[in-house]
Amino acid sequence: MSTQDFKAWMEGVQADVERALEACLPAADAVPHKLHEAMRYTALGGGKRVRPLLAYASAALFGGDAQAVARVASAVEMIHVYSLVHDDMPCMDDDDLRRGKPTVHVAYDEATALLVGDALQAQAFQTLADIDTLPAARQVTMLRLLAEAAGSAGMCGGQAIDLDSVGLALTRNELERMHQLKTGAMLRVSVILGALCGKDLSPTELEALGAYSKAIGLAFQVVDDVLDATADSATLGKTAGKDAADNKPTYVSILGLDQSKELAEQLRREAHDALAPFGEQAQRLRELADLIVQRKA
Ligand code: IPE
Ligand code: IPE
Ligand code: MG
Ligand code: MG
Ligand code: MG
Repeated sequence: MSTQDFKAWMEGVQADVERALEACLPAADAVPHKLHEAMRYTALGGGKRVRPLLAYASAALFGGDAQAVARVASAVEMIHVYSLVHDDMPCMDDDDLRRGKPTVHVAYDEATALLVGDALQAQAFQTLADIDTLPAARQVTMLRLLAEAAGSAGMCGGQAIDLDSVGLALTRNELERMHQLKTGAMLRVSVILGALCGKDLSPTELEALGAYSKAIGLAFQVVDDVLDATADSATLGKTAGKDAADNKPTYVSILGLDQSKELAEQLRREAHDALAPFGEQAQRLRELADLIVQRKA
């Protein structure tokens, strides 16, 4: 599989996800108009779609059903988008730029941003529940895993630690825990839910996928911290330099830039090693680990 293949595959998945999201989000002319318009404003036409890409790559490895993976990808992206909308609100990171556009509370208002997040979260679970090509027991497992990854034992828990950690010098273990929760949990579950669209996984396969997703989950936020400190807002489509300005503990503040980049590279190698049992079949997941670590935005 060449690099060109990867780019074409990625663009194909991104287009597929755009269509799937478009179909499962309420129409902008359905009442209440402002809420539905704002949900579509934030969820459509932007973002790298890394979580959907992970779900597609993992589903392909296990012969995943096409309808199921499109819905899984939409569901994880909706939870992610909701987390971004809330992350940007004045009570959290107070950011006015996201995906190159004004954030929802700026383009609309704070109450709308709150409700957009709430509604996208509910819509994500509804979308998973609407899969009609998988056994019901499999769907219940998926719903539970997504709830765990999004909730206080996952993303929300990590966000709470993040907000409580402003100005604190976290230990490296504490920082890793925060990152694994606030960002890693949703990336991990994207890989696992993608896999669950296909055949039953053996314990060895589950363990290998677990090790892969843990490595890329942490790597993603290490790189996010590095980019916050090194890239510009126009490239990122969000405000650069915010972590230092807000006194957030990050990999850059704790390890420095060079060591953070080294750590991301080490995690990329760990992710590749974890995929060894799958051989050539896992090429897309390998390429996604490379993308996560080598991205510029
Ligand atoms: C940004 O996520 C927030 C984090 C979890 C670090 P992404 O970098 O995936 O943002 P989009 O989806 O591409 O906008
Ligand atoms: C947010 O982390 C992670 C989420 C759960 C949204 P950041 O606060 O670092 O994300 P950015 O840098 O604003 O995208
Ligand atoms: Mg934040
Ligand atoms: Mg933020
Ligand atoms: Mg960040």
